Amino acid sequence: MRHFTSVKEIGNLDLAVKEALEIKADRFKYSHLGKNKTLMMVFFNSSLRTRLSTQKAALNLGMNVIVLDINQGAWKLETERGVIMDGDKPEHILEAIPVMASYCDVIGVRSFARFEDKKYDYDEVILNQFIQYSGRPVFSMEAATRHPLQSFADLITIEEHKTKARPKVVMTWAPHPKALPQAVPNSFAEWMNAADYDFVITHPEGYELDPQFVGSAKVEYDQMKAFEGADFVYAKNWAAYTGENYGKVLSKDRSWTVSDRQMAVTNNAHFMHCLPVRRNMIVTDDIIESPRSLVIPEAANREISATVVLKRILEDL
Ligand code: CP
Repeated sequence: MRHFTSVKEIGNLDLAVKEALEIKADRFKYSHLGKNKTLMMVFFNSSLRTRLSTQKAALNLGMNVIVLDINQGAWKLETERGVIMDGDKPEHILEAIPVMASYCDVIGVRSFARFEDKKYDYDEVILNQFIQYSGRPVFSMEAATRHPLQSFADLITIEEHKTKARPKVVMTWAPHPKALPQAVPNSFAEWMNAADYDFVITHPEGYELDPQFVGSAKVEYDQMKAFEGADFVYAKNWAAYTGENYGKVLSKDRSWTVSDRQMAVTNNAHFMHCLPVRRNMIVTDDIIESPRSLVIPEAANREISATVVLKRILEDL
């Protein structure tokens, strides 16, 4: 594997999950692969899980790790070419990237959607600049449109807990006070479609996702109807995608908060969320604390998905 930005680079999902479960059973099996190799993790946005799990994955593989928080101690970076740099950004990303690359062998990048320009976000300008100008393998630690390490961990978690070959998986929009990117729902949809589950997306009208990610999923605007018979419920907020509403909060309707009411019509579904989660906005205390909640196993599997991806990158260095 050279770069990892989406489900496309992971190849056969059955093999990827099998590899993940082997690594989970013996997570230091490939500790020789990263000897004298350095991972640089570059964060343009905050993180708890991605930061810790990816660092742990690199340590599992014997790598050295450097972490840079662009907004805490680094020079502010200009990311657009052609700008007259007379403002508050003293360094251009086109110099910063090759400099960073000179200190490492592999680069992980976290760079969220900014919601200033849909094309800029959906062109993945920052992630692609790292791919183009670093000369190093680059992997996404959540970019503007996808969060593949999270989706891979979600897939592993579903495979570990499913009781039928093709479970019903429902991804539901839920309310949140702030505008959040579409990266997690886009990516989850992409991976669920690739896994060929019985996959349903439910959200209020106006929250339609980019069709390239919705793919073959069924879209159901009636949340209660969508939840009927679900084996897994995956909750997530996202801001509007379509037209002039891009990046806007259109609703904070708390009747969409996942609670006993909706879970009662499921097939005793497991509850999932990528975290961090706002309790009693996205999901009630009772549901997230219930024995059917998988939020902690999902987060734990982030170490495993990152170990598989880094292992594959190291094997191809
Ligand atoms: N799920 C996830 O990516 O968490 P962090 O934002 O804390 O990394």
